[in-house]
Amino acid sequence: MRTPIIAGNWKMHKTVAEAVELSQGVCDAVESISGVDVVLCPTFTALSAVKDIVEGTKVGLGAQNMYWEIQGAYTGEISPVMLAELCDYVILGHSERRQYFGETDEGVNNKIKAALTHSLIPIVCVGEDLTQNEAGETETFVGGQVKAAFDGLSPDEAAQVIVAYEPIWAIGTGKTADPDMANGIIKNSIRGVLADLYGDNIAEQIRVQYGGSVKPNNIAGFMAQPDIDGALVGGASLKVDSFLALVEASA
Ligand code: 13P
Repeated sequence: MRTPIIAGNWKMHKTVAEAVELSQGVCDAVESISGVDVVLCPTFTALSAVKDIVEGTKVGLGAQNMYWEIQGAYTGEISPVMLAELCDYVILGHSERRQYFGETDEGVNNKIKAALTHSLIPIVCVGEDLTQNEAGETETFVGGQVKAAFDGLSPDEAAQVIVAYEPIWAIGTGKTADPDMANGIIKNSIRGVLADLYGDNIAEQIRVQYGGSVKPNNIAGFMAQPDIDGALVGGASLKVDSFLALVEASA
């Protein structure tokens, strides 16, 4: 019922020329694959060039961040209006933004509302760090992040959001969450919290990805889980072959 979605978060990688080459390779490779949504999230500087490549293909385009105001004296920031000219998706609240750039739950909530107002689909990241994980605080912490992210969203708005569960300790470490455990967190602390807020019908429509060291050799375990609807991928999205393998495994 929920179409899986594989999104490549290129983070701070690829020049414009490299982004053009990679996106062209991905578009050609995934063209004949159906039953899965595919999204590429390059840096801001490459969005326009990659837009020209993905246009008319099955591949969607997303940004990695944005500010919530529509314009103004905010040096260095990018607004939802600007992104809406170029892309359909925007990653919000990634743990690297929260960790290195001081993003708060409240700011992430503002960004989600601004994205939806401008017809951008937010991919909202949540996830615990190692200390919280080891202290058994994962469910409470992730549930709290979800509540804060969706604060003030109507059911119709909520249904459009994509959530990515990315345990921080699994990002870029080669250490993945156990698929059963990830499914349990998503079921209880993400979909369960959304069901409390919006009812089962809306909660069942919302797509939830897993992210954190997803590779061709481990994606099947995640895709076999009933509550996992795809992956948000860093490292393995930077090469056509590995990204294609993830898309194929999810179709
Ligand atoms: P890796 O796939 O490199 O672990 O990154 C995951 C991630 O942070 C995607 O947003």
